[in-house]
Amino acid sequence: MTATAEARARASSAPAEPTLRVENLRVAVDGREILHGVDFTINKGEVHAILGPNGSGKSTLAYALMGSPRYEVTDGAVTFKGEDLLAMATDERARAGLFLAFQYPTSIPGVQMGNFLRLAVKSRFGDQAVAGFRKELDEKLRVLKMDRSYMTRYLNEGFSGGEKKKAEILQMAMLRPEVAIMDETDSGLDVDAFHVVADGVNAMRGPDLGIVVITHYNRMLEYIKPDFVHVLIGGKIVKDGGAELAQEVDRHGYQPILEELRAKGVEIELPEEAGATYGGREETEERRDPFRSHGRTAI
Ligand SMILES: Nc1ncnc2c1ncn2[C@@H]1O[C@H](COP(=O)(O)OP(=O)(O)OP(=O)(O)O)[C@@H](O)[C@H]1O
Ligand SMILES: [Mg+2]
Repeated sequence: MTATAEARARASSAPAEPTLRVENLRVAVDGREILHGVDFTINKGEVHAILGPNGSGKSTLAYALMGSPRYEVTDGAVTFKGEDLLAMATDERARAGLFLAFQYPTSIPGVQMGNFLRLAVKSRFGDQAVAGFRKELDEKLRVLKMDRSYMTRYLNEGFSGGEKKKAEILQMAMLRPEVAIMDETDSGLDVDAFHVVADGVNAMRGPDLGIVVITHYNRMLEYIKPDFVHVLIGGKIVKDGGAELAQEVDRHGYQPILEELRAKGVEIELPEEAGATYGGREETEERRDPFRSHGRTAI
C-alpha cells in the first residue's frame, strides 16, 4: 500500500473511484520524455502538494492534465470522475470541473476580465448561472481584496505578477472546480497578496474540492495544510507522505531523498540545467525563500 493509500485508509471513507486518477502517465515535449510514469490519485475534499526541484516536471504534469497540445501523452491513463480525461478536449476538461491556475498566466489582449469570467461561468454552469453572476463576482472580489476596475481591464494585460495570481484565484473561485491544480500560485506575491491568496484557497477548501498545490515554499504549506505530499524528481513521483514530508524537504532539501533512492538502486534522471540544487535550507534559503532572509519583501 502506498503512503497515500495508508493515510487515506486511516483518515476517511474515501470512495473506491477517486475523483482524479493518474496512472503510469508518460508525457513528452518536443519528442523528449519528461514524465516517466506518474501515478497519483486525488479525491474531492483532499489537499495535495507536489514538491520537486526546478525542471522536474511539475508544470508538465499540470499542463498534460489540462490537455495543452504541446504536452504529448505517450502512455498511461487518466480518469476524471470515472471518465477518460485524455479523450476530452481542454474546454471539456474545464467544463467538467478541472481547473489549472498557471505558473505563468498569459495575457489575452482585447478580452475584458469581466466578460471572460462571465463566459467561463456560462460555459461551465449554463445560461441560468449568468443571473447570479454579478452578485457572486462582487462577493469574491471583496474576499480577494480586488478592485472592481479589474473587470474592465484586458485579461492579465499589464497586470503585475501578483495581480495575475489573484486573477487566477478569482477565476477558480468563480468556476468552483472539483479539482484545482495550482502551479506556483504563491510565487512572486508580496506578503499581503500571499495572505489573500492563501486565505482565498483556505476559504474554498471543502468537501467538494480537491486541490493540488505545486509550490517551492513550505510557507504556503504551513497555511494550506496539505493532507498528502508528493515529491516529483526527474519526471517521477519518488516519495509520498503527509505534511511532515514537506517540512523534511524544507529542512534538508532533496539530497537525502536522492540518496535514499540511490541506495535502493533506483535510477533518477536529473535535469541537466546548471544551478539546479538539491541541498537543504542552509544552502538554498536565500535563493528559495527571500521572505525568510530579507524580511517582509516577497516570498
Ligand atoms: N513547452 C516546453 N518546451 C520545451 N521544454 C519544455 C516545455 N515544457 C517543459 N519542458 C522541459 O521539461 C522539463 C520539466 O519542466 P517543467 O516546467 O515541467 O518543470 P517544473 O518542475 O515545473 O520546474 P519549475 O519548478 O522550475 O517550475 C524541463 O527540462 C523543461 O525544459
Ligand atoms: Mg513549473
